[in-house]
Amino acid sequence: MTRRDVITGIDIGTSNIRVIVGEIMTDGNVNIIGVGTSPSEGIKKGIIIDLERTVDSITKATAEAERMAGSKIENVYAGIVGSHVSLVNNRGVVAVTRDDKEITELDVERVLQAARVIALPQEKEIIDVIPKEYIVDGYDGIRDPVGMLGVRLEVEAMVLTGTITSLRNLLRCIGMAGFEVNALVLNSLANGETCLSRDEKELGVFLIDLGGGTTEISLFQQGGLKDISVLPIGGDHITNDLAVGLRTTFQLAERIKIEYGSAVPEPSSVKKEIEIEGISGKEIRTISSDDLFTYIEPRIIETMQLCYQEINRMSFSKLPPGGVVLTGGVSLMRGLPELAESVFGCSVRLAQPEYLGVKSPIYSTAVGMIHYASRNKTIRKIGKKQESREGLFAVTWRRIKSFFADIWE
Ligand SMILES: Nc1ncnc2c1ncn2[C@@H]1O[C@H](COP(=O)(O)OP(=O)(O)OP(=O)(O)O)[C@@H](O)[C@H]1O
Ligand SMILES: [Mg+2]
Repeated sequence: MTRRDVITGIDIGTSNIRVIVGEIMTDGNVNIIGVGTSPSEGIKKGIIIDLERTVDSITKATAEAERMAGSKIENVYAGIVGSHVSLVNNRGVVAVTRDDKEITELDVERVLQAARVIALPQEKEIIDVIPKEYIVDGYDGIRDPVGMLGVRLEVEAMVLTGTITSLRNLLRCIGMAGFEVNALVLNSLANGETCLSRDEKELGVFLIDLGGGTTEISLFQQGGLKDISVLPIGGDHITNDLAVGLRTTFQLAERIKIEYGSAVPEPSSVKKEIEIEGISGKEIRTISSDDLFTYIEPRIIETMQLCYQEINRMSFSKLPPGGVVLTGGVSLMRGLPELAESVFGCSVRLAQPEYLGVKSPIYSTAVGMIHYASRNKTIRKIGKKQESREGLFAVTWRRIKSFFADIWE
């Protein structure tokens, strides 16, 4: 099988920046040929707070991925956190203008314009309007109404609004690190590629990405993304609780959490004694690994309860048939699925990419970006000539807009 393309995905997370280089084969299969990770410096709760440190982290992670792939990375797909994007469903209605009642492109433009009328908070701007279906004289489910006959044209659309400044900062960091951004991929959509089956997406499922600084909840139904919600909590909170509770540094608390942490009590046979250094580095104490659970469990229960509130808000009364799927670094915590099941009252599945070398839920987003980009080729249509006449931001912004237009088709 020969290579068709090479795609790079960058997941700029709160804890780590992960770069994955994927080789797309002619049969559509993906081989992972490069992986790079660098601790995230300069990101808080999914938002860039320090440009230079973020650029440094991007440079380190991409250099590592380049070394492994044995080739230079030039352009990338980057993830955006759902907190930067809001989805609002809206309907637009217009009367068909032509005397012979044939619907024209102008009518479609007008009806999409009508769907843009929503109440907007000051800091948000409309990024785009994505038509989900058109309705002609009451007949729904129409994908392209141009050329049809009708009197009344309606559109059921999803309006995407974004905090423009955060998106600009993201593009800027990647540009400063020397890479061109092909398109931005909503993290939820990337995770959906890695973690969910077609059936789950069709029947309805909640996907929860438990990250370091954010917890992203996405509802998929009828084959597509229906709703997202981002909570500004994550694994860093657990580390913080441990650092305060054990009176030690954040770094040591993080190490202890990953090595010995558990969301459920340890069976007595596996209990261990752990030595802890105080903040000053002098005092050394010993605790039992079982003590960690008393700090970790309440925070995880709280996080799951907050997720459950969001789930109830999004799905109204009952959980969809696909239940809940978990991914992201925190999902590796021992005993977490059991705890999640007891809070949600349904079965919970863990999901991760199934490729050698990236078989971990920490890679779900970056790997998903490669799948998403390889399946949605339309997002890479823009030619080089056009780019030289426009600024980088204008080009990328246009790409993002055309990309989003493909998402909720
Ligand atoms: N084995 C483990 N047990 C418990 N927690 C873990 C484990 N491995 C990683 N984590 C935690 O997962 C978090 C990082 O997860 P992930 O890499 O998915 O986050 P991120 O993508 O960088 O952040 P975000 O998505 O919030 O922007 C950290 O808080 C880390 O401590
Ligand atoms: Mg993440």
